[in-house]
Amino acid sequence: MDLNQNTSKKRIFSGVQPSGKLTLGNYLGAIKNWALLQDEYDCIYCVVDMHAITVRQEPAKLRQQTLEVMAQLISCGLDPEKNILFIQSHVSEHAELAWILDCFTMFGELSRMTQFKDKSLKNADNINAGLFTYPSLMAADILLYSSDLVPVGIDQKQHVELARDVANRFNGIFGETFIVPEPYIPKLGAKVMSLSDPARKMSKSDPNANSYILILDQPEDILRKFKRAVTDSDTRIFTGENKDGVNNLINIYATVTGKTTNEVEAEFDGKGYAQFKPAVAEAVIEELRPVREKTEDLLRNKDYLETVYKSGAERASRIASHMLRKVAKKVGFVKKP
Ligand code: TYM
Repeated sequence: MDLNQNTSKKRIFSGVQPSGKLTLGNYLGAIKNWALLQDEYDCIYCVVDMHAITVRQEPAKLRQQTLEVMAQLISCGLDPEKNILFIQSHVSEHAELAWILDCFTMFGELSRMTQFKDKSLKNADNINAGLFTYPSLMAADILLYSSDLVPVGIDQKQHVELARDVANRFNGIFGETFIVPEPYIPKLGAKVMSLSDPARKMSKSDPNANSYILILDQPEDILRKFKRAVTDSDTRIFTGENKDGVNNLINIYATVTGKTTNEVEAEFDGKGYAQFKPAVAEAVIEELRPVREKTEDLLRNKDYLETVYKSGAERASRIASHMLRKVAKKVGFVKKP
């Protein structure tokens, strides 16, 4: 069954950048939850390579990472039959709608985006126009598919809110066109922090490889990184203020095992980091092991991957082209003969 014929379920859209290897943050904040939503919703997931080039990428590496991310989406449990999985640059409507939305997005709005401010600091020699208008492309991604919900980690909430503002503005001028989407943030795992500097989010672009766990990391690397994770001088295992490192490890352990924070505190009551850190590592290793093994298999089968993203792009394009035609008409473009 094609998703666009099934109108009874709510629609979900989300995306992930292939700008590096995927981290435990991407997994717990986003992809693990996407897999849980696939029966209840019509889901569309996109590897956003066009967003990735807002920061300089090495072309061969970008191609490889795009395929790796696609393989990881499938390995994390997203069934390509149930979900539309595709690569953003294969559906040209994203760029076309982004241009139109650029004309309905204000300079001031884009200037306030924290991701733009952060990335401008990190890439001071390459503050390009794409980096600035990134949120309009993201709004286009979401609005093209009449998405009801956008499951993301907390760091992307501001962008989804901008997409809502742009949708409301457009609808206000031209009449009901876009569904106004809601961000959908998981209760646990929405903000996995760096292991070396737990005041900052775990990020694939962090130059310190010990600060993040990759979905494809080997078990011994996962164990080593958790053992080195920054905690504090109070050796007790409980959540609290000024305990960012321990809070983060408890949060990770709880999200992976499905336990509550209180249960985790009780489990490690009277125990120290020497028991706690390897236990967190072990839980993460076992969670990620099948994902890594399946990804390695899929990457040996590029033909299969191609059938997935080819059919995904075709299905996505049918929905996207319909919306783009509607928008083009509303803004006054002459109908394409
Ligand atoms: P990206 O590629 O940075 O991250 C993909 C998803 O992972 C979540 N995430 C995290 N969650 C918890 N803790 C962390 N440390 C962590 N790091 C990343 C992100 O919140 C995100 O949900 N702009 C988006 C990609 C995008 C998109 C879209 C998302 C493009 N178009 C349309 C939704 C809808 C981004 O850079 O995500």
